[in-house]
Amino acid sequence: MSEWQKSDWRAKPRVQMPDYTDAAELAAVEGQLSKYPPLVFAGEARKLKRALGAASRGEAFLLQGGDCAESFDQFSANAIRDTFKVMLQMAMVLTYGAKVPVVKVGRMAGQFAKPRSAPTEVVDGVELPSYRGDIINELAFTPQARIPDPKKMLQAYTQAAATLNLLRAFSTGGYADVHQVHSWTLGFAEGEKAERYRDMANRISDTLDFMTAAGITADATHALQTVDFYTSHEALLLEYEEALTRLDSTSGKWLAGSGHMVWIGDRTRQPDGAHVEFARGVLNPIGLKCGPSTTAEDLKVLMAKLNPQNEAGRLTLIARFGAGKVAEHLPRLIKAVQEEGANVVWVCDPMHGNTIKSSTGFKTRPFEAVLSEVREFFAVHKAHGTVPGGVHFEMTGADVTECTGGVRAVTDEDLSSRYHTACDPRLNASQSLELAFLVAEELSALRAERAQAAAS
Ligand code: PEP
Ligand code: CO
Repeated sequence: MSEWQKSDWRAKPRVQMPDYTDAAELAAVEGQLSKYPPLVFAGEARKLKRALGAASRGEAFLLQGGDCAESFDQFSANAIRDTFKVMLQMAMVLTYGAKVPVVKVGRMAGQFAKPRSAPTEVVDGVELPSYRGDIINELAFTPQARIPDPKKMLQAYTQAAATLNLLRAFSTGGYADVHQVHSWTLGFAEGEKAERYRDMANRISDTLDFMTAAGITADATHALQTVDFYTSHEALLLEYEEALTRLDSTSGKWLAGSGHMVWIGDRTRQPDGAHVEFARGVLNPIGLKCGPSTTAEDLKVLMAKLNPQNEAGRLTLIARFGAGKVAEHLPRLIKAVQEEGANVVWVCDPMHGNTIKSSTGFKTRPFEAVLSEVREFFAVHKAHGTVPGGVHFEMTGADVTECTGGVRAVTDEDLSSRYHTACDPRLNASQSLELAFLVAEELSALRAERAQAAAS
Protein backbone atom coordinates (compact mmCIF):
# COMPACT_ATOMS: atom_id res chain seq x y z
CA MET A 1 0.00 0.00 0.00
CA SER A 2 1.41 3.37 -0.92
CA GLU A 3 1.83 5.95 1.77
CA TRP A 4 -1.21 7.91 3.01
CA GLN A 5 -1.62 11.42 1.65
CA LYS A 6 -3.81 14.09 3.21
CA SER A 7 -5.77 14.47 -0.03
CA ASP A 8 -6.51 10.73 -0.48
CA TRP A 9 -10.06 11.20 0.83
CA ARG A 10 -10.88 13.04 -2.41
CA ALA A 11 -10.95 9.77 -4.32
CA LYS A 12 -13.51 8.23 -1.94
CA PRO A 13 -17.28 8.59 -1.83
CA ARG A 14 -18.20 11.56 0.33
CA VAL A 15 -21.44 12.31 2.17
CA GLN A 16 -22.68 15.30 4.18
CA MET A 17 -20.26 17.72 2.50
CA PRO A 18 -21.26 20.84 0.56
CA ASP A 19 -20.96 21.17 -3.20
CA TYR A 20 -19.14 24.46 -3.55
CA THR A 21 -20.09 26.20 -6.74
CA ASP A 22 -17.03 28.42 -7.17
CA ALA A 23 -14.04 26.09 -7.58
CA ALA A 24 -11.54 28.94 -7.97
CA GLU A 25 -12.63 30.56 -4.76
CA LEU A 26 -12.53 27.26 -2.90
CA ALA A 27 -8.98 26.64 -4.12
CA ALA A 28 -7.94 30.14 -3.05
CA VAL A 29 -9.29 29.61 0.47
CA GLU A 30 -7.63 26.21 0.76
CA GLY A 31 -4.35 27.73 -0.39
CA GLN A 32 -4.59 30.45 2.20
CA LEU A 33 -5.55 28.11 5.05
CA SER A 34 -2.71 25.77 4.28
CA LYS A 35 -0.27 28.61 4.90
CA TYR A 36 -1.77 29.49 8.28
CA PRO A 37 -0.26 28.06 11.46
CA PRO A 38 -1.85 24.87 12.79
CA LEU A 39 -4.01 25.46 15.88
CA VAL A 40 -2.57 22.57 17.89
CA PHE A 41 0.75 20.79 18.05
CA ALA A 42 1.64 17.13 17.73
CA GLY A 43 3.05 16.90 21.26
CA GLU A 44 -0.30 18.00 22.66
CA ALA A 45 -2.20 15.43 20.62
CA ARG A 46 0.19 12.74 21.84
CA LYS A 47 -0.28 13.86 25.44
CA LEU A 48 -4.06 13.63 25.03
CA LYS A 49 -3.63 10.18 23.53
CA ARG A 50 -1.72 9.06 26.62
CA ALA A 51 -4.44 10.50 28.85
CA LEU A 52 -7.11 8.66 26.83
CA GLY A 53 -5.05 5.50 27.10
CA ALA A 54 -5.38 5.86 30.87
CA ALA A 55 -9.14 6.32 30.43
CA SER A 56 -9.31 3.09 28.41
CA ARG A 57 -7.88 1.25 31.43
CA GLY A 58 -10.13 2.97 33.98
CA GLU A 59 -7.29 5.09 35.35
CA ALA A 60 -8.85 8.34 34.12
CA PHE A 61 -12.24 9.49 32.82
CA LEU A 62 -13.02 11.55 29.74
CA LEU A 63 -15.34 14.54 30.01
CA GLN A 64 -16.07 15.85 26.52
CA GLY A 65 -18.58 18.62 26.03
CA GLY A 66 -19.59 21.87 24.44
CA ASP A 67 -21.88 23.29 21.79
CA CYS A 68 -23.61 21.16 19.21
CA ALA A 69 -22.47 23.79 16.72
CA GLU A 70 -20.32 26.80 17.49
CA SER A 71 -21.78 29.96 16.05
CA PHE A 72 -20.24 33.09 14.53
CA ASP A 73 -23.07 35.19 15.99
CA GLN A 74 -22.86 33.99 19.56
CA PHE A 75 -19.06 34.11 19.72
CA SER A 76 -17.95 35.97 22.84
CA ALA A 77 -15.41 35.74 25.63
CA ASN A 78 -18.18 35.32 28.19
CA ALA A 79 -19.72 32.39 26.34
CA ILE A 80 -16.36 30.63 26.17
CA ARG A 81 -15.62 31.38 29.83
CA ASP A 82 -19.01 30.10 30.97
CA THR A 83 -18.77 26.81 29.10
CA PHE A 84 -15.19 26.36 30.30
CA LYS A 85 -16.32 27.08 33.87
CA VAL A 86 -19.12 24.50 33.75
CA MET A 87 -16.68 21.93 32.39
CA LEU A 88 -14.34 22.68 35.32
CA GLN A 89 -17.21 22.32 37.77
CA MET A 90 -18.28 19.03 36.23
CA ALA A 91 -14.69 17.81 36.28
CA MET A 92 -14.39 18.80 39.93
CA VAL A 93 -17.53 16.86 40.82
CA LEU A 94 -16.14 13.81 39.03
CA THR A 95 -12.62 14.07 40.43
CA TYR A 96 -13.86 14.61 43.95
CA GLY A 97 -16.81 12.21 43.79
CA ALA A 98 -15.25 9.33 41.90
CA LYS A 99 -11.59 9.95 42.85
CA VAL A 100 -10.42 9.70 39.29
CA PRO A 101 -8.42 12.14 37.12
CA VAL A 102 -10.64 13.76 34.51
CA VAL A 103 -9.49 14.36 30.94
CA LYS A 104 -11.18 17.58 29.81
CA VAL A 105 -11.97 17.97 26.12
CA GLY A 106 -14.17 20.77 24.75
CA ARG A 107 -16.38 20.52 21.70
CA MET A 108 -14.85 23.89 20.99
CA ALA A 109 -12.52 25.83 18.71
CA GLY A 110 -13.56 24.01 15.54
CA GLN A 111 -17.03 22.48 16.03
CA PHE A 112 -18.60 24.34 13.13
CA ALA A 113 -19.74 21.82 10.51
CA LYS A 114 -22.92 19.78 10.90
CA PRO A 115 -24.25 16.62 9.27
CA ARG A 116 -28.00 16.89 8.66
CA SER A 117 -30.75 14.30 8.48
CA ALA A 118 -32.10 15.79 5.23
CA PRO A 119 -30.37 17.75 2.43
CA THR A 120 -33.20 20.28 2.28
CA GLU A 121 -35.60 21.91 4.68
CA VAL A 122 -39.20 22.96 3.99
CA VAL A 123 -40.79 25.93 5.78
CA ASP A 124 -44.31 27.07 4.86
CA GLY A 125 -44.07 25.24 1.56
CA VAL A 126 -40.66 26.75 0.65
CA GLU A 127 -37.83 24.28 0.17
CA LEU A 128 -34.19 25.37 0.67
CA PRO A 129 -30.89 23.53 1.22
CA SER A 130 -30.34 22.65 4.90
CA TYR A 131 -28.17 24.75 7.17
CA ARG A 132 -24.83 22.89 7.61
CA GLY A 133 -23.04 24.96 10.23
CA ASP A 134 -21.50 28.44 10.16
CA ILE A 135 -18.33 27.21 8.46
CA ILE A 136 -20.47 26.25 5.43
CA ASN A 137 -23.62 28.38 5.11
CA GLU A 138 -26.02 30.49 7.19
CA LEU A 139 -28.97 29.67 9.41
CA ALA A 140 -31.24 32.39 7.95
CA PHE A 141 -33.97 30.86 5.78
CA THR A 142 -33.19 32.58 2.48
CA PRO A 143 -31.79 31.09 -0.74
CA GLN A 144 -28.70 33.35 -0.54
CA ALA A 145 -27.91 32.39 3.08
CA ARG A 146 -27.98 28.68 2.29
CA ILE A 147 -25.37 28.82 -0.50
CA PRO A 148 -22.13 27.23 0.74
CA ASP A 149 -19.39 29.87 0.90
CA PRO A 150 -15.75 28.73 1.14
CA LYS A 151 -14.66 32.06 2.71
CA LYS A 152 -16.50 31.01 5.85
CA MET A 153 -13.64 28.58 6.51
CA LEU A 154 -11.34 31.54 7.09
CA GLN A 155 -13.72 33.06 9.61
CA ALA A 156 -14.06 29.68 11.36
CA TYR A 157 -10.26 29.40 11.55
CA THR A 158 -9.98 32.88 13.06
CA GLN A 159 -12.70 32.19 15.61
CA ALA A 160 -11.15 28.82 16.50
CA ALA A 161 -7.75 30.46 16.99
CA ALA A 162 -9.20 33.17 19.25
CA THR A 163 -11.21 30.59 21.20
CA LEU A 164 -8.19 28.39 21.73
CA ASN A 165 -6.12 31.38 22.77
CA LEU A 166 -8.63 32.22 25.48
CA LEU A 167 -8.91 28.58 26.60
CA ARG A 168 -5.15 28.37 26.92
CA ALA A 169 -5.15 31.58 28.98
CA PHE A 170 -7.93 30.29 31.25
CA SER A 171 -6.18 26.93 31.66
CA THR A 172 -2.84 28.26 32.79
CA GLY A 173 -3.36 31.90 33.77
CA GLY A 174 -4.90 31.36 37.20
CA TYR A 175 -8.58 30.97 36.36
CA ALA A 176 -8.48 27.17 36.58
CA ASP A 177 -6.54 27.15 39.87
CA VAL A 178 -8.36 24.80 42.26
CA HIS A 179 -8.09 27.51 44.89
CA GLN A 180 -10.74 29.29 42.77
CA VAL A 181 -13.22 26.45 43.27
CA HIS A 182 -15.55 28.84 45.10
CA SER A 183 -15.46 31.60 42.53
CA TRP A 184 -16.57 29.14 39.84
CA THR A 185 -19.90 29.03 41.66
CA LEU A 186 -20.54 32.72 41.05
CA GLY A 187 -23.64 33.28 39.01
CA PHE A 188 -24.80 29.83 39.97
CA ALA A 189 -28.48 29.31 40.51
CA GLU A 190 -29.79 28.12 43.85
CA GLY A 191 -31.08 24.59 44.19
CA GLU A 192 -30.06 21.26 45.60
CA LYS A 193 -27.15 20.62 43.20
CA ALA A 194 -25.72 24.09 43.70
CA GLU A 195 -25.86 23.42 47.44
CA ARG A 196 -24.04 20.12 46.98
CA TYR A 197 -21.47 21.82 44.81
CA ARG A 198 -20.83 24.52 47.43
CA ASP A 199 -20.54 21.89 50.09
CA MET A 200 -17.96 20.02 48.07
CA ALA A 201 -16.11 23.27 47.33
CA ASN A 202 -15.94 23.95 51.09
CA ARG A 203 -14.40 20.57 51.71
CA ILE A 204 -11.87 21.10 48.92
CA SER A 205 -10.95 24.52 50.39
CA ASP A 206 -10.45 22.93 53.78
CA THR A 207 -8.13 20.35 52.29
CA LEU A 208 -6.14 23.07 50.52
CA ASP A 209 -5.86 25.07 53.76
CA PHE A 210 -4.62 21.96 55.49
CA MET A 211 -1.99 21.38 52.80
CA THR A 212 -0.74 24.94 53.10
CA ALA A 213 -0.62 24.69 56.91
CA ALA A 214 1.25 21.41 56.64
CA GLY A 215 3.91 23.16 54.57
CA ILE A 216 3.09 21.69 51.17
CA THR A 217 4.51 24.36 48.91
CA ALA A 218 3.19 25.99 45.77
CA ASP A 219 5.70 24.03 43.70
CA ALA A 220 4.25 20.74 44.81
CA THR A 221 0.75 21.96 44.08
CA HIS A 222 1.52 23.26 40.60
CA ALA A 223 -0.77 20.59 39.19
CA LEU A 224 -3.65 22.18 41.11
CA GLN A 225 -3.07 25.60 39.63
CA THR A 226 -3.34 24.79 35.96
CA VAL A 227 -5.42 22.42 33.92
CA ASP A 228 -4.96 20.51 30.67
CA PHE A 229 -7.85 21.43 28.45
CA TYR A 230 -8.10 20.01 24.96
CA THR A 231 -10.25 20.81 21.93
CA SER A 232 -12.21 18.54 19.61
CA HIS A 233 -14.74 18.61 16.80
CA GLU A 234 -16.27 16.44 14.12
CA ALA A 235 -13.87 16.26 11.17
CA LEU A 236 -16.69 16.73 8.67
CA LEU A 237 -15.56 19.47 6.31
CA LEU A 238 -12.57 17.72 4.83
CA GLU A 239 -11.32 20.65 2.73
CA TYR A 240 -10.80 22.55 5.99
CA GLU A 241 -9.23 19.54 7.71
CA GLU A 242 -6.86 18.78 4.86
CA ALA A 243 -5.68 22.40 4.66
CA LEU A 244 -4.75 22.35 8.35
CA THR A 245 -3.06 18.93 8.25
CA ARG A 246 0.69 19.18 8.71
CA LEU A 247 3.67 16.87 8.85
CA ASP A 248 5.06 16.55 12.36
CA SER A 249 8.80 16.82 11.99
CA THR A 250 9.50 14.86 15.20
CA SER A 251 7.64 11.71 14.24
CA GLY A 252 7.29 12.08 10.48
CA LYS A 253 3.54 11.56 10.93
CA TRP A 254 0.61 13.71 9.87
CA LEU A 255 -1.24 15.84 12.39
CA ALA A 256 -4.77 17.22 11.96
CA GLY A 257 -3.83 20.72 13.10
CA SER A 258 -7.45 21.85 13.51
CA GLY A 259 -7.93 20.41 17.03
CA HIS A 260 -6.45 17.93 19.47
CA MET A 261 -9.05 15.23 18.91
CA VAL A 262 -11.35 14.81 15.92
CA TRP A 263 -14.24 12.43 15.54
CA ILE A 264 -16.19 10.72 12.78
CA GLY A 265 -19.96 11.19 12.98
CA ASP A 266 -22.62 8.50 12.93
CA ARG A 267 -23.60 9.54 9.40
CA THR A 268 -20.09 9.60 7.92
CA ARG A 269 -18.51 6.41 9.24
CA GLN A 270 -18.75 4.37 6.00
CA PRO A 271 -15.67 2.10 6.14
CA ASP A 272 -14.76 2.97 2.52
CA GLY A 273 -15.84 6.59 2.67
CA ALA A 274 -13.93 9.86 2.62
CA HIS A 275 -14.14 10.62 6.34
CA VAL A 276 -12.66 7.33 7.49
CA GLU A 277 -9.96 7.67 4.84
CA PHE A 278 -8.97 11.07 6.19
CA ALA A 279 -9.04 10.14 9.88
CA ARG A 280 -7.03 6.96 9.48
CA GLY A 281 -3.97 8.90 8.35
CA VAL A 282 -3.61 11.49 11.11
CA LEU A 283 -1.87 10.85 14.40
CA ASN A 284 -4.51 12.55 16.63
CA PRO A 285 -6.81 10.66 18.96
CA ILE A 286 -9.88 9.75 16.90
CA GLY A 287 -13.47 9.44 18.05
CA LEU A 288 -16.00 7.22 16.28
CA LYS A 289 -19.69 7.68 16.90
CA CYS A 290 -21.54 4.37 17.18
CA GLY A 291 -25.30 4.35 16.70
CA PRO A 292 -28.06 1.74 16.49
CA SER A 293 -27.07 0.88 12.92
CA THR A 294 -23.41 0.16 13.73
CA THR A 295 -22.83 -3.53 13.09
CA ALA A 296 -20.16 -5.67 14.74
CA GLU A 297 -18.65 -6.35 11.30
CA ASP A 298 -18.41 -2.65 10.44
CA LEU A 299 -16.88 -1.89 13.80
CA LYS A 300 -14.21 -4.55 13.29
CA VAL A 301 -13.29 -3.13 9.90
CA LEU A 302 -13.26 0.41 11.29
CA MET A 303 -11.07 -0.52 14.24
CA ALA A 304 -8.59 -2.19 11.93
CA LYS A 305 -8.49 0.87 9.67
CA LEU A 306 -8.43 3.52 12.35
CA ASN A 307 -6.14 1.84 14.85
CA PRO A 308 -4.04 -0.76 13.02
CA GLN A 309 -1.32 -0.69 15.69
CA ASN A 310 -3.91 -1.09 18.46
CA GLU A 311 -2.48 1.93 20.26
CA ALA A 312 -4.11 2.77 23.61
CA GLY A 313 -5.92 6.13 23.50
CA ARG A 314 -6.00 6.30 19.72
CA LEU A 315 -9.63 5.25 19.31
CA THR A 316 -12.62 6.40 21.36
CA LEU A 317 -15.96 4.75 20.66
CA ILE A 318 -18.76 7.21 21.38
CA ALA A 319 -21.97 5.22 21.87
CA ARG A 320 -25.21 7.13 21.14
CA PHE A 321 -28.12 4.75 21.00
CA GLY A 322 -30.92 6.47 22.93
CA ALA A 323 -32.49 5.69 26.28
CA GLY A 324 -33.95 2.19 26.42
CA LYS A 325 -31.71 0.97 23.60
CA VAL A 326 -28.28 0.60 25.16
CA ALA A 327 -28.79 -3.00 26.30
CA GLU A 328 -29.89 -3.91 22.79
CA HIS A 329 -26.89 -2.44 20.96
CA LEU A 330 -23.86 -1.96 23.17
CA PRO A 331 -23.25 -5.65 24.00
CA ARG A 332 -22.64 -6.64 20.35
CA LEU A 333 -20.06 -3.87 20.02
CA ILE A 334 -18.38 -4.82 23.30
CA LYS A 335 -18.20 -8.38 21.99
CA ALA A 336 -16.63 -7.22 18.72
CA VAL A 337 -14.01 -5.23 20.63
CA GLN A 338 -13.26 -8.21 22.87
CA GLU A 339 -12.98 -10.60 19.93
CA GLU A 340 -10.43 -8.31 18.31
CA GLY A 341 -8.59 -7.65 21.57
CA ALA A 342 -8.88 -3.98 20.62
CA ASN A 343 -7.89 -1.07 22.81
CA VAL A 344 -10.73 1.46 22.90
CA VAL A 345 -12.12 4.11 25.20
CA TRP A 346 -15.86 3.52 25.74
CA VAL A 347 -17.73 6.79 25.94
CA CYS A 348 -21.44 7.55 26.32
CA ASP A 349 -23.10 10.33 24.32
CA PRO A 350 -26.61 10.44 25.82
CA MET A 351 -27.68 13.35 23.61
CA HIS A 352 -27.93 12.26 19.99
CA GLY A 353 -30.16 9.23 20.49
CA ASN A 354 -32.65 11.24 22.54
CA THR A 355 -33.74 14.10 20.31
CA ILE A 356 -37.51 14.57 19.98
CA LYS A 357 -39.94 17.26 18.89
CA SER A 358 -41.70 18.91 21.83
CA SER A 359 -45.43 19.58 21.95
CA THR A 360 -44.53 23.23 21.34
CA GLY A 361 -42.64 22.36 18.15
CA PHE A 362 -39.04 22.72 19.39
CA LYS A 363 -36.38 20.09 18.90
CA THR A 364 -35.57 19.04 22.46
CA ARG A 365 -34.15 16.29 24.66
CA PRO A 366 -35.88 15.20 27.85
CA PHE A 367 -33.33 15.34 30.64
CA GLU A 368 -34.75 12.10 32.09
CA ALA A 369 -33.88 10.27 28.87
CA VAL A 370 -30.34 11.69 29.00
CA LEU A 371 -29.92 10.45 32.58
CA SER A 372 -31.40 7.04 31.68
CA GLU A 373 -28.99 6.47 28.83
CA VAL A 374 -26.05 7.24 31.12
CA ARG A 375 -27.35 4.77 33.72
CA GLU A 376 -27.87 2.10 31.06
CA PHE A 377 -24.35 2.64 29.74
CA PHE A 378 -22.87 2.06 33.19
CA ALA A 379 -25.12 -0.97 33.79
CA VAL A 380 -24.01 -2.69 30.58
CA HIS A 381 -20.33 -2.11 31.33
CA LYS A 382 -20.85 -3.34 34.84
CA ALA A 383 -22.45 -6.53 33.54
CA HIS A 384 -19.64 -7.11 31.02
CA GLY A 385 -16.74 -6.25 33.31
CA THR A 386 -15.64 -3.58 30.81
CA VAL A 387 -14.53 -0.02 31.43
CA PRO A 388 -16.82 3.01 31.02
CA GLY A 389 -14.19 5.53 30.03
CA GLY A 390 -16.06 8.79 29.64
CA VAL A 391 -19.06 10.88 28.67
CA HIS A 392 -19.77 13.21 25.76
CA PHE A 393 -22.37 15.99 26.09
CA GLU A 394 -23.83 18.95 24.26
CA MET A 395 -23.90 21.64 26.89
CA THR A 396 -23.34 25.31 27.46
CA GLY A 397 -22.56 27.55 30.39
CA ALA A 398 -25.41 29.83 29.37
CA ASP A 399 -28.78 29.61 31.10
CA VAL A 400 -30.66 28.32 28.06
CA THR A 401 -33.93 26.39 27.90
CA GLU A 402 -33.30 23.78 25.21
CA CYS A 403 -33.59 20.42 26.99
CA THR A 404 -36.67 19.78 29.12
CA GLY A 405 -36.57 18.65 32.75
CA GLY A 406 -33.88 18.90 35.39
CA VAL A 407 -34.12 20.16 38.98
CA ARG A 408 -35.22 23.58 37.79
CA ALA A 409 -37.72 21.82 35.54
CA VAL A 410 -37.80 23.25 32.04
CA THR A 411 -41.22 22.51 30.47
CA ASP A 412 -42.27 22.29 26.82
CA GLU A 413 -43.75 25.79 27.23
CA ASP A 414 -40.46 27.17 28.62
CA LEU A 415 -38.45 26.09 25.58
CA SER A 416 -39.26 29.25 23.65
CA SER A 417 -37.94 31.58 26.34
CA ARG A 418 -34.18 31.03 25.86
CA TYR A 419 -33.73 28.63 22.95
CA HIS A 420 -30.46 29.80 21.38
CA THR A 421 -28.80 26.76 19.84
CA ALA A 422 -27.83 26.91 16.18
CA CYS A 423 -28.42 23.17 15.93
CA ASP A 424 -29.19 20.53 18.59
CA PRO A 425 -30.56 21.33 22.10
CA ARG A 426 -27.90 21.64 24.80
CA LEU A 427 -27.93 21.05 28.54
CA ASN A 428 -27.76 24.30 30.50
CA ALA A 429 -25.32 24.86 33.38
CA SER A 430 -27.68 23.52 36.02
CA GLN A 431 -28.57 20.38 34.03
CA SER A 432 -24.89 19.78 33.25
CA LEU A 433 -23.98 19.87 36.91
CA GLU A 434 -26.84 17.56 37.81
CA LEU A 435 -25.60 15.12 35.21
CA ALA A 436 -22.05 15.32 36.57
CA PHE A 437 -23.31 14.29 40.00
CA LEU A 438 -25.11 11.30 38.49
CA VAL A 439 -22.00 10.23 36.56
CA ALA A 440 -19.86 10.62 39.68
CA GLU A 441 -22.26 8.41 41.64
CA GLU A 442 -22.37 5.72 38.95
CA LEU A 443 -18.63 5.77 38.51
CA SER A 444 -17.74 5.71 42.18
CA ALA A 445 -20.22 2.88 42.86
CA LEU A 446 -18.70 0.82 40.05
CA ARG A 447 -15.13 1.55 41.15
CA ALA A 448 -15.91 0.68 44.76
CA GLU A 449 -17.54 -2.57 43.72
CA ARG A 450 -14.61 -3.56 41.53
CA ALA A 451 -12.05 -2.62 44.17
CA GLN A 452 -13.92 -4.79 46.62
CA ALA A 453 -14.12 -7.69 44.19
CA ALA A 454 -10.38 -7.38 43.50
CA ALA A 455 -9.59 -7.39 47.21
CA SER A 456 -11.70 -10.43 48.08
C1 PEP B 1 -22.90 15.62 16.93
O1 PEP B 1 -22.09 15.15 17.76
O2 PEP B 1 -23.25 16.82 16.92
C2 PEP B 1 -23.53 14.70 15.96
C3 PEP B 1 -24.08 15.12 14.84
O3 PEP B 1 -23.52 13.44 16.38
P1 PEP B 1 -23.85 12.06 15.64
O4 PEP B 1 -22.87 11.94 14.52
O5 PEP B 1 -23.59 11.05 16.74
O6 PEP B 1 -25.28 12.11 15.23
CO1 CO C 1 -25.39 17.59 17.92
